[in-house]
Amino acid sequence: GAAVTQDISAIEDGQMIVVKYRGKPIFVVKRTPEMLDNLTKVTPLLSDPQSEASVQPEYAKNETRSREPTVLVVEGVCTHLGCAPNYRPEVGAADLGGGDWFGGFFCPCHGSKYDLAGRVYSGVPAPLNLPIPDYSVDGPILTIGE
Ligand code: FES
Repeated sequence: GAAVTQDISAIEDGQMIVVKYRGKPIFVVKRTPEMLDNLTKVTPLLSDPQSEASVQPEYAKNETRSREPTVLVVEGVCTHLGCAPNYRPEVGAADLGGGDWFGGFFCPCHGSKYDLAGRVYSGVPAPLNLPIPDYSVDGPILTIGE
């Protein structure tokens, strides 16, 4: 099939790589324990924290939106009009709301914000959380697609 594999063992904690899958950028982030803690702190600022309306496989419909908490795999395509959000992991970034910013993705086109599980903030143009593609992880190897 159209599956893509990627060795993710070299991604540093807190870093992101981009993998192309079916013409789309897939963001892969190695989340740190602090990043995982912040997924809980940011919840009151999100419009769909339980991912009820968004697209993800059943195994990723959980608090971290992932198979393994440390590895985030998410489509890097803004759910507003399809721009590529920027990776902005720095907590408290002054241009992204200071104390209300817990790290995540910022879409420069119209200012939508997503947390480090790809969940969209309230009050931004994007209507939905970033989609999660089908994927699996086997040791160091990430497979996107089937
Ligand atoms: Fe991302 Fe509009 S395309 S905010």
